Amino acid sequence: MSNLTPAEILPVKRLTVTLTNLCNLDCDYCLRVAETQHLDVELLNNVLVQARDYGVTAVSYTGGEVTLHPRFQQIIRRTAALGFSYSLVTNGWHFPKIAPVLAETKNALYRVFFSMDGATEQAHDAVRGSGSFRKIMAAMALCRFHGFPFGVNLVVTRRSVASIESLAVLSARLGADVVQFMHLLPTSEEYDQRLSLTPDERRAAEREALAVDAILKIPVQFAAGVSMSAPGTPCVSLSGETVHLDCRGRLTLCCTLSDYRNAVGEGDVVADLRTTSFQEACERVHRLALAQRARRNAALAAGHPEAEFPCHFCTQTFDKTAWRTPALVQLGRAGQGATGTVAERVSI
Ligand SMILES: C[S@@+](CC[C@H](N)C(=O)[O-])C[C@H]1O[C@@H](n2cnc3c(N)ncnc32)[C@H](O)[C@@H]1O
Ligand code: SF4
Ligand code: SF4
Repeated sequence: MSNLTPAEILPVKRLTVTLTNLCNLDCDYCLRVAETQHLDVELLNNVLVQARDYGVTAVSYTGGEVTLHPRFQQIIRRTAALGFSYSLVTNGWHFPKIAPVLAETKNALYRVFFSMDGATEQAHDAVRGSGSFRKIMAAMALCRFHGFPFGVNLVVTRRSVASIESLAVLSARLGADVVQFMHLLPTSEEYDQRLSLTPDERRAAEREALAVDAILKIPVQFAAGVSMSAPGTPCVSLSGETVHLDCRGRLTLCCTLSDYRNAVGEGDVVADLRTTSFQEACERVHRLALAQRARRNAALAAGHPEAEFPCHFCTQTFDKTAWRTPALVQLGRAGQGATGTVAERVSI
C-alpha cells in the first residue's frame, strides 16, 4: 500500500457518518451547511459491510440532525445487526421518535450525545430556539428511563464560556456519564469576531474544564481541538483511526471539516465511495492525515500560534475560514490546492 510505512498507519477502527445535512434548528454558529441532503441508504449499507470487513468496529452518526433522516430506524437496525457499536449526536427535539429503535438495539448503543448551549433554559434557548431546553431535558429523562448511556457537548464561545462549571454540574446531576467541550470553529468573520475566544481565553477555558473535572465524578474534558503545543498526532482522524463518510457518499478526513459552512476548499474529501473502494479511500485518508500532521509540525516549528489549536489549524489550512491567518491558508493551498478534482487533491 502506497508509500507509507506500517508505523505511520493506525488501523481504521471508527467510521463517523453524516447521515443528513438537514436540521430542524438554526444555531447561529453551526459549522454545517444547511440543506436537505440525506445519505443514500443503499450506499451506506454497502460501505458498512466494507468497513466491517476492513476492521471498523464502531460507527458514530452525526448531522445535521440524524433523527431527520427518513430511514433512521432502518439504518440503526442494520448497524447493530452488522455487529457495530454505535453512537449519535442530537439536539434532542425528536428523541421520543427514535427511543424505541435505540431500546431495540440497546446492546449496540455506546452513547447518545446531546448538544447544549448553557445550563439554563434561557441560555440554551437563546441559541437553539424556544422549547429546546425542555425537549433536551425530556430526552435525557427518556435516556435514564431506558438506561441509555448519554453525554453532553458544549461549544465554548464568548457566550457560553462562563457556563463550563454549571453545565458540567447540571449534566452530572441529570445522569450524563461524560461532558465534552469543543472550541468554537468560526464560519464567518462576523461570528468569529462576535463569538470566538482569543487563544489565551481558550487555554483558560481548558484549565477551567480541568479544574471541574477534578471535582466531579464524571469525566469533564475538551474533545478534539484542545490546545497541543507539541508536534505529533492531536486526534483520532490524524492518527488514521477514524474516517468520515459525508452525506454525499464521499470519504473525508474528519466530520468537523465536512460540508463546512462558507468553506472555500474541500481538500479534506478524498474519494467518492460510489466509485472507489473503502480500502482505497482509507489509504488516501492516511496519506492526507500524514501530510496534515507534517504541515502542523512544520507550522509549530515556524512559530505559527494557531498551529497549537489543531482544529483551528485544520480549518485554516483546508481553506474553510479564508479570512483568517493568510499565511496558514497559503500553507494549505500550497499543499493541496483549493480547487481541482478529488484525484488531484489527494496526490500530495
Ligand atoms: C453539527 S452538530 C450535528 C448534531 C446535532 N444537530 C447537534 O447539534 O447535536 C455536531 C456537533 O457540532 C457542534 N458544533 C456545531 N457548530 C460548531 C462550531 N462552529 N464549532 C464547534 N462545534 C460546533 C454542535 O454543537 C454539536 O455538538
Ligand atoms: S448545531 Fe446541530 S442543532 Fe444546531 S443547527 Fe447545527 S446541526 Fe442543527
Ligand atoms: S479538524 Fe483536524 S485536528 Fe480537528 S478533529 Fe478534524 S482532523 Fe483532527
